[in-house]
Amino acid sequence: HLDQVKGEIRFEDVEFRYDDKGAPILDAIDVTVPAGGSLAVVGPTGSGKSTLSYLVPRLYDVTGGRVTLDGVDVRDLDFDTLARAVGVVSQETYLFHASVAENLRFAKPDATEEELHTAARAAQIHDHIAALPDGYDTVVGERGHRFSGGEKQRLAIARTILRDPPVLVLDEATSALDTRTEHAVQEAIDALSANRTTITIAHRLSTIRGADQIVVLDAGRAVERGTHEELLDQGGRYAALVHRDAQLEPTR
Ligand SMILES: Nc1ncnc2c1ncn2[C@@H]1O[C@H](COP(=O)(O)OP(=O)(O)OP(=O)(O)O)[C@@H](O)[C@H]1O
Ligand SMILES: [Mg+2]
Repeated sequence: HLDQVKGEIRFEDVEFRYDDKGAPILDAIDVTVPAGGSLAVVGPTGSGKSTLSYLVPRLYDVTGGRVTLDGVDVRDLDFDTLARAVGVVSQETYLFHASVAENLRFAKPDATEEELHTAARAAQIHDHIAALPDGYDTVVGERGHRFSGGEKQRLAIARTILRDPPVLVLDEATSALDTRTEHAVQEAIDALSANRTTITIAHRLSTIRGADQIVVLDAGRAVERGTHEELLDQGGRYAALVHRDAQLEPTR
């Protein structure tokens, strides 16, 4: 149990296999993300980026080494502490067949209307919600109002702002969003990641450039690390990825 989570995340000699006969999906990963700092994880498809992010909220457990939060092995934390400490914004957002307000309050049951609006504003989705015929009472989901992918993502961001976790894991969408939506999503993400430890599985160069630290994965190994400038200067894998663009920027 941790009373006051600061949010330092450490991967210590992490190894991971989905099945014990196969080759490791992650091997000898050593990365520290200081509390409040940001890490961008980049690399080709299948290199283990999403898998690495799963180890923090314990969607999976390491098969070697450990992942720590403020120095405590995440396996030694109770699920409640971990769930409160780590927020995940993934590519798939689930909305309940309920009102927008209820979908947001799922993250914070006692949130006032004002808090809902503030979170939705920061997530760049308030104006859209307010313009619906029933506003925040609009029923969403399967048989209700359908939000687009970019809108759903911003609702998920609003939810996470309400939950206010010290650690954030973001799996950036690879799907192409139109420029205006992408800009809105980016602003929402910037609002969300301020003052939090942020681990982003990054595809957009704009996100990656701003990260305190970039780790390049290749076949489960951290082959390069540094800032955008440092890695460009090295002229290695990262520089090649940036120049080739294809792995970093969604194709349109
Ligand atoms: N549930 C699973 N069971 C078995 N193998 C898996 C599972 N999920 C992923 N893998 C394998 O683990 C490797 C790493 O997958 P991962 O999803 O972490 O890659 P990624 O870097 O996130 O790729 P992408 O950029 O396409 O999202 C891949 O070879 C993938 O096939
Ligand atoms: Mg992935």
